[in-house]
Amino acid sequence: MHVTNQVALITGGASGMGKACAQYLQHKGMRVVVWDKQEDTQSEADLFISCDVTSDESVEQAMKQTITELGTPRVCVNCAGIAPAKRIIGREGAMPLAAFKQVIDVNLIGTFNVMRVAAHAMSTLELEGKSQERGVIINTASIAAFEGQTGQAAYSASKGGIVAMTLPAARELAQFAIRVNTIAPGLIATPLLLNMPQEVQDNLISTMTFPKRFGKPEEFASLVGQIVENGMMNGEVIRLDGALRMQ
Ligand SMILES: NC(=O)c1ccc[n+]([C@@H]2O[C@H](COP(=O)([O-])OP(=O)(O)OC[C@H]3O[C@@H](n4cnc5c(N)ncnc54)[C@H](O)[C@@H]3O)[C@@H](O)[C@H]2O)c1
Repeated sequence: MHVTNQVALITGGASGMGKACAQYLQHKGMRVVVWDKQEDTQSEADLFISCDVTSDESVEQAMKQTITELGTPRVCVNCAGIAPAKRIIGREGAMPLAAFKQVIDVNLIGTFNVMRVAAHAMSTLELEGKSQERGVIINTASIAAFEGQTGQAAYSASKGGIVAMTLPAARELAQFAIRVNTIAPGLIATPLLLNMPQEVQDNLISTMTFPKRFGKPEEFASLVGQIVENGMMNGEVIRLDGALRMQ
């Protein structure tokens, strides 16, 4: 897709990979709107909307405001997510069901919530000139969808759900000329990892294959850019992990 002047919507764009995507796509000439729960005071996005991806009303309202103030998005990147670790049987007994539900709610239902509203908005657009497509949706899973670790039952289930809905969503939205892809990152240097003690970070890095370092948010953003521009990328889940396979 030719991206200049098109609108890109990034959820979770106030931090980490979402923020890197917002900057990357803006440098590519896109007009960027960030939807996030937390305010980003240094945001250079064209528009910031406070939005909770778990709420249908919040997401529908954010889309209305986006269309009015910036235009209908042709690109939607879902980066909003949480990654709390919790064991099924913890020190205080069985994991509270609410803890499991919250992770599914933000990561899986939140992603679907934004995808359904973004796809509907995109379906009203004219086909974009050269690419003859209406839009691209990119969701963020994790390698924990495939190799979840102890304490990641909820997180892995939420990300596995995102992986599983990629193909049926791509098949269904094909009639509207909308592509759907998912990126499954490994360990990426965002506040989520960089706030861990140095020892834990060093241990994690020692498990890497090559390169022996955390991925950079910009590397995630550049893959997003490639997916947007490459019209053959559809219905795919792409690992971005430097060959890391979690034990
Ligand atoms: N960092 C990693 O190593 C890694 C690896 C694999 C997958 N991921 C996934 O990548 C995505 C981005 O993670 P990150 O590392 O950039 O984390 P991050 O914490 O830096 O950014 C996540 C953003 O999502 C926002 N958010 C959380 N809940 C929200 C809600 N209900 N509504 C709206 N916004 C909400 C947060 O406010 C935050 O700005 C997440 O889905 C995460 O699970 C991260």
